[in-house]
Amino acid sequence: MEKKVLYSAVQPSGNLTIGNYTGAIRNWVALQDEYECFYAIANMHAITVRQEPAELRRRTVELLALYIACGVDPARCTLYVQSQVPQHAELAWVLNTITYVGEMERMTQFKDKSARHAENINMGLMDYPVLMAADILLYQTDVVPVGIDQRQHLEIARDIAARFNNRYGETFRMPEGYILKAGAKIASLQDPAKKMSKSDENPNASVFLSDDRDTVIRKFKRAVTDSGSEIVASEEKPGVSNLLNIYAAFAGCTVEEAERAFAGKGYGEFKLAVGETVADVLAPIQAEQKRLLSDKAYLNAVLKEGAERAFKAARRTLSKVYRKIGFYQGD
Ligand code: TYM
Repeated sequence: MEKKVLYSAVQPSGNLTIGNYTGAIRNWVALQDEYECFYAIANMHAITVRQEPAELRRRTVELLALYIACGVDPARCTLYVQSQVPQHAELAWVLNTITYVGEMERMTQFKDKSARHAENINMGLMDYPVLMAADILLYQTDVVPVGIDQRQHLEIARDIAARFNNRYGETFRMPEGYILKAGAKIASLQDPAKKMSKSDENPNASVFLSDDRDTVIRKFKRAVTDSGSEIVASEEKPGVSNLLNIYAAFAGCTVEEAERAFAGKGYGEFKLAVGETVADVLAPIQAEQKRLLSDKAYLNAVLKEGAERAFKAARRTLSKVYRKIGFYQGD
């Protein structure tokens, strides 16, 4: 039986956080045997906010090495750079014509990013969800493992797919989100009402996958907690809940098990344990990423093969789309 298709991507737009790991990449590894997987480096999405070209180039390769270091296997999965497969931009253009400006203006991420980059509210930023829909739909994707913040984009991708299928006949498979409860929404260590983000200005708010052990532990020690002293997950305790969530994701247990492990302990001891647990998981990933980055020839070969595989799959769908909408393709 043919395997179902799984698609996901991360933007090389900054240092990855532990949220990117628990919300996305960690699940990719767990799913790679069960599905036919496409994992992209979304550099076309990244340029919707201003990027330093040399840095973008460097981060692209670093992100590939990170995928592999986290356990994504290039022999089993297709790893590639989005801009190397031109069908993404081509399909996005077609999908633009069935997407409404009003829908895009209502997207939460667009509103947030517009507020943060008021000097650069460009068309690409607004079009971000359409390009993401194109990514997903090009591969006839069944499942998309992402964090909770991407749920709205996934919904609009489904709407666009349904709209196209309705208008032109069955063309795209309907993708489903794969959002695990544990780790799908890691909050800032400084403000648990905000998501942990690559681009937070407060250096203590995010734990980066590249942080060394001391930095990780220091950031967790400084994490905001809540009043009271009990270590339990609840709405009144967003800081402690976030730390429990992180612990559970990194220790491989449930939040309830984590609560039990820390029952009766103080905040200081708890935060140190979370920091150590995270640092223990990150150390081997960092070492492997460093090793891989010293072998550029290997990484380039992975990307070349990935782009070829992705191109073939994407070409099939785009050709079908062009036929359906009446683009002349010869006979
Ligand atoms: P990006 O790079 O912003 O985020 C990458 C992945 O990390 C997840 N994530 C989080 N999960 C839990 N807690 C957090 N604090 C946290 N912050 C980020 C995101 O949900 C995402 O899964 N638009 C995508 C990239 C993309 C994509 C796609 C994804 C482009 N095309 C097609 C799936 C399918 C994004 O958010 O990238």
